[in-house]
Amino acid sequence: MPSTFHSHSVAQTEQIAAELAATFRPGDCIALHGDLGAGKTQFVRGLVRAYGGQERAVSSPTFVLLNCYPTPRGMIFHLDAYRISGPADLEAIGFEELLQQNGLVVIEWASRVKTLLPPTAIQIILTPPSPTTRQIDILRPDFP
Ligand SMILES: Nc1ncnc2c1ncn2[C@@H]1O[C@H](COP(=O)(O)OP(=O)(O)OP(=O)(O)O)[C@@H](O)[C@H]1O
Ligand SMILES: [Mg+2]
Repeated sequence: MPSTFHSHSVAQTEQIAAELAATFRPGDCIALHGDLGAGKTQFVRGLVRAYGGQERAVSSPTFVLLNCYPTPRGMIFHLDAYRISGPADLEAIGFEELLQQNGLVVIEWASRVKTLLPPTAIQIILTPPSPTTRQIDILRPDFP
């Protein structure tokens, strides 16, 4: 599977997320990177739909920090570090425990809490070459 994808629409971004979802395993942490409007939340919609969850329930958890979506394939925990002041805030809401739940832990603005991310986190970087297109790069940690 290529590690760079090119999306030309919201639907295609969701489709790419769905393809990647097939490669994720229970307990994986997905770190999403990209500016405001890059498509991080759209990507999570695609993931939730691929898992058979309610994609309409997906929104940026900017104010609540954490949204939980039950799916037939397990929980998807969706976090947003945009407004938090640092890793301590995330620890306070039980981030470490979330990683132990055998769900999928997906976090927007992950670079703001870099020190808390597990070394196995899958890094996904969204960049907009144009208003309607997105480049999506996947960086998987190397396992020795
Ligand atoms: N190819 C595309 N893929 C994804 N989103 C796109 C694309 N083209 C346009 N968009 C638009 O970009 C926006 C992406 O919004 P989204 O909420 O997913 O961004 P975000 O990265 O979560 O931002 P924030 O940091 O504010 O939470 C939407 O308005 C969507 O319609
Ligand atoms: Mg968002």
